Amino acid sequence: MEKLQQFILSTLDKDESISDTRRLALVADADIPPPSSAEGQQAIQGALSSLSSREMVTFETHEDVSYALKPEGEQIAREGSHEARVWAALPAKGKGTPLSAKEIIQVVGAESAKIGQGKAIKAKWIEKDGAGFVKATDKIQDTTQLDLQEIQSSGTVAAGEKVLSELKKRNLIVLRKSLWYTVHKGPQFSTSVQKPETDLTVDMLTSGAWKTSNFKKYNFEAEGAPTSSGALHPLLKVREEFRNIFLEMGFAEMPTSQYVESSFWNFDALFVPQQHPARESQDTFFISDPAAALPPPKAYYQSVATVHEKGGYGSLGYRAPWSTEESHKLVLRTHTTACSAQLLRKLATQPGGFKPAKLFSIDRVFRNEATDNTHLAEFHQVEGVIADHELTLPDLIGFLHTFFSKMGLKNLRFKPAYNPYTEPSMEIFAFHPALNKWVEIGNSGMFRPEMLEPMGFPKDVRVHGFGLSLERPTMIRYGISNIRTLVGHKVNVDWVENSAAVRF
Ligand code: PHE
Repeated sequence: MEKLQQFILSTLDKDESISDTRRLALVADADIPPPSSAEGQQAIQGALSSLSSREMVTFETHEDVSYALKPEGEQIAREGSHEARVWAALPAKGKGTPLSAKEIIQVVGAESAKIGQGKAIKAKWIEKDGAGFVKATDKIQDTTQLDLQEIQSSGTVAAGEKVLSELKKRNLIVLRKSLWYTVHKGPQFSTSVQKPETDLTVDMLTSGAWKTSNFKKYNFEAEGAPTSSGALHPLLKVREEFRNIFLEMGFAEMPTSQYVESSFWNFDALFVPQQHPARESQDTFFISDPAAALPPPKAYYQSVATVHEKGGYGSLGYRAPWSTEESHKLVLRTHTTACSAQLLRKLATQPGGFKPAKLFSIDRVFRNEATDNTHLAEFHQVEGVIADHELTLPDLIGFLHTFFSKMGLKNLRFKPAYNPYTEPSMEIFAFHPALNKWVEIGNSGMFRPEMLEPMGFPKDVRVHGFGLSLERPTMIRYGISNIRTLVGHKVNVDWVENSAAVRF
């Protein structure tokens, strides 16, 4: 840097000005890259801005635009276009054996044959003759080769933009921008680079040197160094958006801060049969120590056991033996609906009787599943429940339209589904314009009377529920295809810090 600055100053001293920095005759020096190269340009620009900030020089910047050949372009400039090479390989009509497509590949190579054969036929340079091909004309003008040769020597073509953009599209040439500068002496010109003072010191003050010292000017244009700070993980940002939508729709947040639940709350209270496959160890993580939960409220427990075993409230029940041991097993909760169940029971039995409510939660759940690009053994669920007198299925559909349209998903479809705890149940699909397809975004339904009535809800109260994962919309929003980019030890902290704040 110093050397380059010194060189510029002595050139100015000798010649008064520099008309084109690309023509600076730099002494061969390992520290200074050639002035026509990209690094050279950068070094010169650095030296000039530093000298001009001290008013030792003034300079103007100029930009030159030219084209250069890419490797395939170079090959065509040398050997001709693919179509010309195919043409050259063939005999003239009636003057030799026509070549089959296979033989053309053998002569010009697969790449040239693939591209060149079709183009040569289209240009009427070659034609079919029996089972093979022959020349259709005895002279061709290979304009592609000629254009590329012209670009090679002059950086552009006389034929103009259309040809250039066609060659660019075919990936044969690239645009090169180069910067160069004209330089003049500035008001503070001198041949020696003096490092300006950056600090006023005690020594300068006592010796009086400050009166003649040359101080570095403040650069008010400089960008400050980025300050280090904490950053929200994308999952937390999307969670915040969901939370805001719930809050603006009048929902209250449920407490969900326990990962371990009893099978009673995770399954039984939700009328999930004790023989259901989801309750097996390949789907659910069971806790071994302690292995059993404290007993749930006795009367409620008894009515849940009865509705499973014998039915009630208009239901036949599962008519299968009830196991207390199964009910007490501790699990890592498989859905936040375990928390919703506890809140719903509170709602049904609260002092003063049932009052309509809208509740939501967003928290972590666990499933003992094989992991892949889109599944981990843990993820977050976004869940909402709405309890009111005489709610109907159209109420739920209408609500879901409003809820998801606040996330920008205005086009929904519903598909009948099965959950042990809801009837009817619906999978929710949304049309995703960027992916151009319908994607499943959630699950929903109306909780069954077998679940609600043992909790103590009045008979006319209906409860809607719906749930979705937090990871999926986050991945779609951030364009992530592998969930490990989002969660786990492979997460890149820079990516977390720099990921955009999300907007709907
Ligand atoms: N618990 C369901 C799930 O795991 C979501 C859901 C909640 C469905 C409430 C219906 C009602 O997908």
